[in-house]
Amino acid sequence: MCGIVGAVAERNVVEILLEGLKRLEYRGYDSAGVALLEQDGSLTRIRRTGKVQELVDAVAQGSALGTTGIAHTRWATHGGVTEANAHPHFSSERVAVVHNGIIENYQSLRESLREKGYTFTSDTDTESIAHSVHEELKAGASLLLAVQNSVKQFHGAYGTVIMDREDPSRLVVARSGSPLVIGLGLGENFIASDQMALLPVTRRFIFLEEGDVAEITRREVTVFDKDGQLVEREVIESNVEHDAGDKAGYRHYMLKEIHEQPTVVRNALKGRLGEKDIEADIFGAGADDIFAKVKHVQIIACGTSYHAGMTARYWLEQYANVSCGIEIASEFRYRKSVVHENSLLVTISQSGETADTLAALRLAKELGYMSSLTICNVLGSSLVRESDLAFMTKAGAEIGVASTKAFTTQLTAFLMLTIALGKHNGLSEEHKDNIITALHSLPSKLEETLAITQGIEDLAEEFADKNHSLFLGRGDQYPIAMEGALKLKEISYIHAEAYASGELKHGPLALIDEEMPVIVVAPNNELLEKLKSNVEEVRARGGIMYVFADKDAHFASDETMRVINVPHCESPIAPIIYTIPLQLLSYYVALIKGTDVDQPRNLAKSVTVE
Ligand code: AGP
Repeated sequence: MCGIVGAVAERNVVEILLEGLKRLEYRGYDSAGVALLEQDGSLTRIRRTGKVQELVDAVAQGSALGTTGIAHTRWATHGGVTEANAHPHFSSERVAVVHNGIIENYQSLRESLREKGYTFTSDTDTESIAHSVHEELKAGASLLLAVQNSVKQFHGAYGTVIMDREDPSRLVVARSGSPLVIGLGLGENFIASDQMALLPVTRRFIFLEEGDVAEITRREVTVFDKDGQLVEREVIESNVEHDAGDKAGYRHYMLKEIHEQPTVVRNALKGRLGEKDIEADIFGAGADDIFAKVKHVQIIACGTSYHAGMTARYWLEQYANVSCGIEIASEFRYRKSVVHENSLLVTISQSGETADTLAALRLAKELGYMSSLTICNVLGSSLVRESDLAFMTKAGAEIGVASTKAFTTQLTAFLMLTIALGKHNGLSEEHKDNIITALHSLPSKLEETLAITQGIEDLAEEFADKNHSLFLGRGDQYPIAMEGALKLKEISYIHAEAYASGELKHGPLALIDEEMPVIVVAPNNELLEKLKSNVEEVRARGGIMYVFADKDAHFASDETMRVINVPHCESPIAPIIYTIPLQLLSYYVALIKGTDVDQPRNLAKSVTVE
């Protein structure tokens, strides 16, 4: 989704801004722009539709130079993908604004601003921010006060940065709903919507909170909370690798991130998994005391994170003996739900900024959940700050829009949560030992599984010309089938559906023919015989199958079925292991189809608007 970068420095900030935009490309966008306060006091703006490189080329043709500047990548919400709609937006060549989010009451703002004589040159909601601030400045307010007064009129979500030509030494920023992070430098300071943009210039960050307005100059950063009170916000030293944005020799970030999984899962387990048990309070200080009271778990998430939650429900009920509900955040937040006694709300998110998940957490607090835990990959993110307990998945920066390593570390976290909660609810010693042993073997099993890559490349060749596909799994492999289908749709644009295979006869069997490849995940578990019956149902209708199976499951390739053996693993980690071939399959299919693997069309890495 849209990206913001801003800087106030003594040096020319053009390179910093453009490099920042490049580092935000992974979030998805359709146009880009930059505005600079030039030495002669003029305000320069360059905007382009398409890739950031087009903006970089356009900037290189001129001699843009400025020590204060803002830049943006836009993902269209209001108004088409045109240069006129790209940010920054100006008001009378004086005020420049970049904005992430949606100003919901922009129509009424536009009307009243038009009445005051403002002309609109774009179809965006953002332009009304520029004119509102300008109106306040004209009435004599400082830039800070102008922004503080203006935001009171805005309904909706915004992360916005404002620059005033007549006050060139500062930027004023405001956050409500869309994340903003201030980067602290030496004699220079920065702002961005994501710390990734600023890692080349600083590792010290202030994550703004809801309702914050901040003033940024070269030497000072001053933050005011939603009530206008001066506040101190914690400075966090980032642990994200500076080179997290490098592909490390891989053709795509997604492939790099798939191959990083053994390492990041090792990191996620380090210091948390003991020889025979998990360590105490790994879910946060006091977590074990809270867990002792938990009688029900409600999981909320979106997309891939939702699939991790679905898998966790099988584990929590099967092993930990804790009742568990799972719901998509965008549904949960708009329906009346019943809160069970002593319920723990668990949110899952790679980014920690997904608007629906955040809104669901806030709602849950009002509804009276006993406590909240987030399983998240981004330190300092909104979900981490606003939850009672946080478990960091330590997957490292995930750049590819299609989530891979974030998912497998989320599942790893849930196996540990199963033990932590199960201890108080009748988890058997046998199950505990099985999970611990399985977790110890997980990084090396992931390595073994990645080694089957070559077979999957060949398989992708057979697959790439299809328009539809069906993914099947049973039990805790059903969410893995769903995740496999999501990966394939996201990056290859092939229509993919997932079913619990016991459901086949209730409808989807009607779809089966030789043009509808069926992908089956088949570990050697207690549901194997049931799954084999489902496979026969597909075979009897002339379906073509690709079966990822444990070799002891005794599937054999023939003219209607291609079997790819997956290394044998302990049952608790099988969902994590079987995720790998499905990720690889979608990657290689997308490669053959020539799609934009890391930035698939219409998608954004972090969905910070509704
Ligand atoms: C995953 O491949 C997707 N891009 C998407 O479904 C994602 O998982 C979803 O938007 C939730 O994001 P989050 O984990 O950052 O909350």
